[in-house]
Amino acid sequence: MVIKPEIQGVVARTAHPYGCQQAVQAQIAFVESAAPITQGPKRVLILGASSGFGLASRIALTFGGAQAATLGVSFERGPSVKGVGTAGWYNNIYFKQAAEQQGYIAKNIVGDAFSPQIRQQVAQMIRDEFDGQVDLVIYSLATGVRPNPENGDMWRSCLKTVGENVSGFSVDLEKDSLVPAELTAANEDEILATTKVMGGEDWQEWIDFLLAEGLLATGAKTLAYSYIGPESTYPIYHHGTLGIAKQHLHHTATVLNQQLSQCVEGQANVVVCKALVTKASVFIPTFSPYILCLFKVMKQLGLHEECIEQMQRLFADKVYAEHDEQSSLTDENGLIRMDDWELKPEVQQQVDGLMAQMNVDNFKQVGDYAGYKSAFLALNGFGFSTVDYTQSVDLDALSCLTP
Ligand code: NAI
Repeated sequence: MVIKPEIQGVVARTAHPYGCQQAVQAQIAFVESAAPITQGPKRVLILGASSGFGLASRIALTFGGAQAATLGVSFERGPSVKGVGTAGWYNNIYFKQAAEQQGYIAKNIVGDAFSPQIRQQVAQMIRDEFDGQVDLVIYSLATGVRPNPENGDMWRSCLKTVGENVSGFSVDLEKDSLVPAELTAANEDEILATTKVMGGEDWQEWIDFLLAEGLLATGAKTLAYSYIGPESTYPIYHHGTLGIAKQHLHHTATVLNQQLSQCVEGQANVVVCKALVTKASVFIPTFSPYILCLFKVMKQLGLHEECIEQMQRLFADKVYAEHDEQSSLTDENGLIRMDDWELKPEVQQQVDGLMAQMNVDNFKQVGDYAGYKSAFLALNGFGFSTVDYTQSVDLDALSCLTP
């Protein structure tokens, strides 16, 4: 079949396998030519490894100097009668192929990271393939649901404000337009559910489990990714339901840091990243105009980074840099700031100026809509000049490939 991009609102309904391969290859090529990670970990578990920051972390740690063996957990779907499968499915396959071609260990477990069965599979895999321990655990899950282990019901996160409703605009990628959007105020149950899904509880449970099973090496680190953003976006993010969940994540890092330092002389940190186009972030209502303006300004100033640039800089310059004293690594709240360039005053001043001018008619000129859309298409394997999108793709042959 010939695979074309099909977008519904902000959801991609198709992914192009060979485009996903190109996307992985492009990220590998970037880290191979970047300043290397010199003191990196050798065995890494990545929860949420198939796209966005998790995939970029995996590529950086394998090909960007550390030569790490990686175990990636993700929730993805392969080809079937229902469709071609998800981009993350193909990212897993082509990452593993590229890693194995260069002699690196790369294992994938596809399933629900919240389930006890997947935890057991991870433990077995670490024992069988990673000499029984890992040196780094990356927590990069982004999801809307988490099962409550006590009764099997689902906690569902929601993207809402806390207090006042906020109205604004969101990008519609299907219609290439800016459409009115509103964030309504969450109730207590919705705030709690969002914290259950995107807060630190599951991260804590993973680390408790790995410690109890003796699967963390001496000096093991764990990292989770977060977002804060500039004050102008606080009502929609930092002070909203997701922001509250992230505060919980930040608090969890403090608890985990103490626990890991006592148990394995280890360390836990939250990394605050830059706003980027990922499968998860395009969903946040009223947030996209900010990203359009941010991309425009950061590209003009030569400061723009995608996930892969962020992650290579994180490991090479911060977490595994030679001078990695905790005090210089983090801010006063113990957070590693990869949003340092996003929050530069000159960036934010210019972003504010563009935001003030932007409307439904001029958003493509005022903001970097072309860059936003092409980043979204690339996530799903579209827009690569090296792929002939008119060629038919043999899904039967692809279904023989396993992640
Ligand atoms: P993404 O959607 O690209 O990746 C999410 C990953 O989680 C995928 O590998 C997916 O398969 C996996 N996943 C989801 N549910 C799962 C489950 N039940 N079991 C196993 N795997 C599951 O998301 P993105 O944007 O890379 O987000 C990762 C983290 O980075 C999140 O905590 C997010 O809040 C944070 N972040 C994102 C920013 C952005 O602008 N995209 C900015 C700063 C932080």
